[in-house]
Amino acid sequence: MGGMLVTGGAGFIGTNFVRLALAEGHDRVTVLDALTYAANRTSLDGLDPHRFRLVEGSVCDASVVDELVADHDVVVHFAAESHNDNSLRDPSPFVQTNLVGTYTLLEAVRKHGTRYHHISTDEVYGDLELDDPARFTESTPYNPSSPYSASKAGSDLLVRAWVRSFGVQATISNCSNNYGPYQHIEKFIPRQITNVLSGIRPKLYGAGANVRDWIHVTDHNRAVLRILEAGRVGETYLIGADGEKDNKSVIELVLTLMGQPADAYDHVNDRAGHDLRYAIDSSKLRTELGWAPTYRDFESGLAATIYWYRANEDWWRPIKAATEAKYAAAGQ
Ligand code: NAD
Ligand code: DAU
Repeated sequence: MGGMLVTGGAGFIGTNFVRLALAEGHDRVTVLDALTYAANRTSLDGLDPHRFRLVEGSVCDASVVDELVADHDVVVHFAAESHNDNSLRDPSPFVQTNLVGTYTLLEAVRKHGTRYHHISTDEVYGDLELDDPARFTESTPYNPSSPYSASKAGSDLLVRAWVRSFGVQATISNCSNNYGPYQHIEKFIPRQITNVLSGIRPKLYGAGANVRDWIHVTDHNRAVLRILEAGRVGETYLIGADGEKDNKSVIELVLTLMGQPADAYDHVNDRAGHDLRYAIDSSKLRTELGWAPTYRDFESGLAATIYWYRANEDWWRPIKAATEAKYAAAGQ
């Protein structure tokens, strides 16, 4: 008994979270991960087997979930289908994992009285106009656009209902776009880095005016640890680092940092229903919990991320051709 159960810990943010939590002195961390296409078991290589364990299984499997929840003090729920483009091709695993999986965990934490933290996204709020001075806050109405963001919005609402109706000890965080090491190469930044490293021209959806609010994955995870320490049960916290950038600028910066001409990329088909802009106001997290981002310079964080993909080609090379084939079939 005791310790932290981390779902989805073999994915991008979960892997970084497990590594940070162990480094910060958490002495028993168990990952429950279905090891889908998005996971990479090697991301968790080298962790102390006395303090860390990986269980292969689904958050939709009530008996595995019940047994593991019963044996831990805290659950941090990262597991999800996470990629918008995939949700447009086939929404079904999104409904299953993001909604049924969250429901399954909520029932287990309800039964065992376990503290639960729910990882969510700023996409639940829909999008903003480019020239809108407003940013998302904890009271912005939900207005999701894609099957992915709708399934995440639904999962957040389940958590809120389980808090109110059953007194579950839960907190929720909604974070903006993460970047950093161990991110699947289907996502925007690592796709372009590994394209350049493979001699493929980077691919920009549409005109690239869409804005994302970038945050380094370690800053996201430090905020989650802080919420576990001092967050108020029943509350939602928005996590963001004032990192708004349009996609065209990001692709040009990747190319420049990699020694290529800034315009050496292709425009490809736009995403259906493509959200225009996300922007987070993280005042609540900053004032109430004293969190602040440590990666304040996007360019140097991006340079370090490029370095990581250069140095870890074994990690991504085996899935590059299949990832690009999926995009090529969609004209992207
Ligand atoms: P990811 O796709 O890299 O990893 C998801 C992990 O969940 C994978 O290891 C996968 O195997 C696992 N998983 C999927 N279905 C499962 C199931 N049924 N049972 C158990 N494990 C399962 O995703 P990520 O980018 O690390 O995102 C993690 C969480 O953070 C998600 O909840 C996502 O919505 C949220 N989030 C992501 C971002 C971002 O920028 N990536 C921003 C805000 C919030
Ligand atoms: O805002 C948080 C969300 O950020 C998370 O909830 C999601 O899990 C995460 O995947 C991310 O969603 P996005 O759809 O914003 O991320 P993605 O990396 O897919 O795309 C970022 C932007 O770049 C988006 O405007 C689409 C664009 N894009 C994407 C790809 C893959 C391109 O222009 N070219 C590409 O090749």
